[in-house]
Parts: sequence; C-alpha cells; structure tokens
Amino acid sequence: MPELIVTTAAPTDVDADVLLLPLLAGADDAGPLVPQMPELGALAAAVDASTDAGELTRLPAAEGVRARSVLLVGVGAEALDEVDPEDLRMAFGAATRSLAGTDHAALALPGASDEQRAAALEGAALGAYAFTAHRTEASSPKTALATLTVIASDEAAGKSAAERAGVLADVVAITRDLVNTPPNLLYPDAFAARAQELTADLPIEVTVLDEKQLAEGGYGGIVGVGQGSTRPPRLVRLSYAPANSHGSVALVGKGITFDTGGISLKPAKGMDDMTSDMSGAATVLAATIGAAKLGLDVTVTTFLALAENMPGGGAQRPGDVVTMRNGTTVEVLNTDAEGRMVMADALVDAAATEPDLLIDVATLTGAAVVALGTRTAGVMGTEGGRESVLAAADASGEPFWPLPFPKELRKDLNGRVADLSNIGDRPGGALSAGIFLREFVGETEWAHIDIAGPAFTAKPWGYTSVGATGMSVRTVLAVLEQRAR
Ligand code: BES
Ligand code: MN
Ligand code: ZN
Repeated sequence: MPELIVTTAAPTDVDADVLLLPLLAGADDAGPLVPQMPELGALAAAVDASTDAGELTRLPAAEGVRARSVLLVGVGAEALDEVDPEDLRMAFGAATRSLAGTDHAALALPGASDEQRAAALEGAALGAYAFTAHRTEASSPKTALATLTVIASDEAAGKSAAERAGVLADVVAITRDLVNTPPNLLYPDAFAARAQELTADLPIEVTVLDEKQLAEGGYGGIVGVGQGSTRPPRLVRLSYAPANSHGSVALVGKGITFDTGGISLKPAKGMDDMTSDMSGAATVLAATIGAAKLGLDVTVTTFLALAENMPGGGAQRPGDVVTMRNGTTVEVLNTDAEGRMVMADALVDAAATEPDLLIDVATLTGAAVVALGTRTAGVMGTEGGRESVLAAADASGEPFWPLPFPKELRKDLNGRVADLSNIGDRPGGALSAGIFLREFVGETEWAHIDIAGPAFTAKPWGYTSVGATGMSVRTVLAVLEQRAR
C-alpha cells in the first residue's frame, strides 16, 4: 500500500517522479486531450498516444511541469464523467502497476467529479502492489510505488477519498499478501496467528479452535480434511460487535492452505496454484478488518475454516463417512471435494449466530471457472442473499454473476450409506457444491460466492497484479457498508 498524500497544489507545481494525467479522446482535430494542459496534448499527439482505456504513454515532463515525467493514462472516452468508475480504477491501476520501482507519483484529474477522482485514486492505490517478501537482491526486485499524491481542488473531499482508498487498498493487500505467501509458510496454525496479529489493534475478538477442540466439538468435516497433514486444522472465529449496530452479518471463508486433492490426488500440472485455496478465508478476514477500520455500524461474525488437504498416512479415504458439526453424515467419495466439507462445519456455526445475512466465500470448484471464466465470481444462495451481493458488486465494480440453483441437482447428493455424498454429478459442479452447502445453513438468508476463477491470476490486468488478486474483498466490504446504514 503506498502512502497517500492529498494536496490542493496545481498539477504543474507538484514535485514527483511522475505526474499521472488522464488522456481523453479528442472531440476535434486537436488530437488527444489532457484537460487544461494543451501543451501536453500536443506532445501526446506527436507520439500518437493511445486514448484507449488503460493505455499508457510516458513522456518527459513538458515545460512548466515540475514533476520529472508525465504518464498519460488513456480512459477511452471524451470526458471523464462518461467513464465507468471501474474502468477508471482499471486504467489508473494499470498506471501505478507499471510504476513498480518508482518512488513517488502524483495523480491529477482536472475537472473530475469527486466520485470519479475517488475511483481513479482507488484504482491507483490497488495497482501499487508488489509481492517481494521472498526475493533477494539477486533478482532485483521492483518494489511497489511508495508514495501517491492526489491533487484535489476540494481538500476535504480529497482527504475523505484518500482515507477510503487507503482502507480498501490496505485490506485488499492483506488478502493478496496472505494468498501470495507460499504454502510451506502459511499452514492452518500460521494463518490463525496472522489473523490474531492483523486484528491485534482493532476492536475484533479472536477465538481459535485447535484440532483437539474441533474433534470434541464434532467438526467432522474440518477434522477429516485436516487429518492427512502433519499440520493440523484450525477454526478461527472473529467478532466485530460495535455498540451502535444496525444489523448482523456472518462471514465464512474457505481456508485450505494447500489443496493437493488428498488421496484423490490432483495432477501435478498447475497444482502449485492450490496455494491460493485459502483465498476465501483471506477475503472474509480482510473484509472484517475493513469493517473495523471504517468503524461500520454492523455486527460481523467471521469464521475461517483452515486445513491443509494432504494425502498423508492418516488421510481420509474415498468412501469414509464423517459426522458433521450439525450431526449430518457425509460419505467422502472424493477427497478433492474438501472445500465444501470444511465450509459446511463453519456454516453451521455461522448460521447459529442467527445473522441477518450469511455470506461465504470459497475457491470451491473448477466448474465455476469453466462456467464464468477467470475474472467473474459466481454468486449462489437464497434470492435475497444473491441480491445483496449483486447490489454491493454494483457499487464496488467487481464482476459477479448470479447462479440460481436448479431443483433437480439435489438428489444426486444423496449418499449410498450416509445422509449425503460430498460429490454430485459432474455437470453443474459449481451448483452441486452450492447445493451441498445449502444443507448446512438452515433458513438463514445466505449468499455463496465461488471465486475459484478470479482469486488468482497468471496474467496481470488493470489494478490486478500476477498471483493473488484480492477479488471479492471490496464487494463483501460493500455489503457490510450497506448493512451498516
Ligand atoms: N480447490 C478446488 C477448486 C479450484 C479449482 C479452485 C481450480 C481454483 C481453481 C476444489 O477443492 C476442488 O478440487 N474441487 C473439485 C471438486 C470435484 C472433486 C467435485 C473440482 O472442482 O474439480
Ligand atoms: Mn480440492
Ligand atoms: Zn480446494
């Protein structure tokens, strides 16, 4: 997260390594437009700078500009107020992402509305991220942009935009850092310890159940998944309960710190991506931290279902029957369908808090990736739960797609010897996983978010760098904001 500074100085007067400016498509023959800075428009025209959204052109500073260089950011429109806020986030995120290794950038949006400036600033803050924790000097790591100065005509509006962008970028970075941490270092107990450290200075109470307490408490799903690893499972409960609460939301996150598939072992190719199988837990932890940092008037109770899915000598076998936290018995026909097993136990506890809304986030199924691609999250659950998430996604700009449950898939989850089987038919796999989870939420208003596609990426774009994306954190936090009103 870069340090954010607000100034009311003129764009030409700010001392920085680089000045970021939007480049608008020209309305006439004058070429691309840099609002109120015609001399830069002429330079942009001379190098044929693209005005397409997210296209970047770096120029030496023109005369009269104090910054050492200028980065023109195409926004794909003739006026800033025509640009979708998420497209602005993407464009300015691409800009700051390209500035890894740079110390100080300033961001000017002459004539922008407060809302558009806030979006550009958010994107710029999100794009200024790099994960260099495990690089030595030998690989010449480029650290993320360190300082971002935003130029605003109204200082108060600028400050409040910077504060909010700071919290959002901060919690997204918390998620990305956790997900990017390699699986030898982030195992269930290490994750639980990180949750405690990250919340130590916040009004959030943390309780951790260890493997013994999980066994005694009847968390058969979590215990079963975790038993193949030498590093035992954990269930972390976080509670943010402000005095003036306007409602309650429970959050549940899938925290498989590494998913080998267990005895139903995954193929070697791409298995390393399964370091990201705890993205749901990282997301709900970060959203809870965000609620506390923003001081939202909503009660949040969060569960992180943490286990490592390994094929050790003590691992569960395909065909094992376990008894879940609510007494339901499940036959584990495929040990690679482990996410729903750990989630189910945590969902029972979350539903028992009787929240107004229960949201779970999980990298649950490859089928969701097939259905929706690598950038869009699927949202399932009750109609009201889905609507709450989609409304929040509208505000955050993140892409979500509704997947209502078809009736006929439930019967395929009937077990041969137990109440349920942990897999259904292959077609509609994202939906069967959701329908499995439904068995554990009772009558609670509920949204199930499958982020298997968008949580982790091999290719960067917009404000998203390679590896962990932090996708869905801003939307879950937006739900909490809407419930705090
Ligand atoms: N963690 C995986 C799902 C996943 C796949 C996440 C690709 C991110 C990218 C999950 O535990 C899993 O293995 N699901 C199985 C379920 C199947 C066995 C019913 C799957 O999707 O193949
Ligand atoms: Mn799996
Ligand atoms: Zn998994």
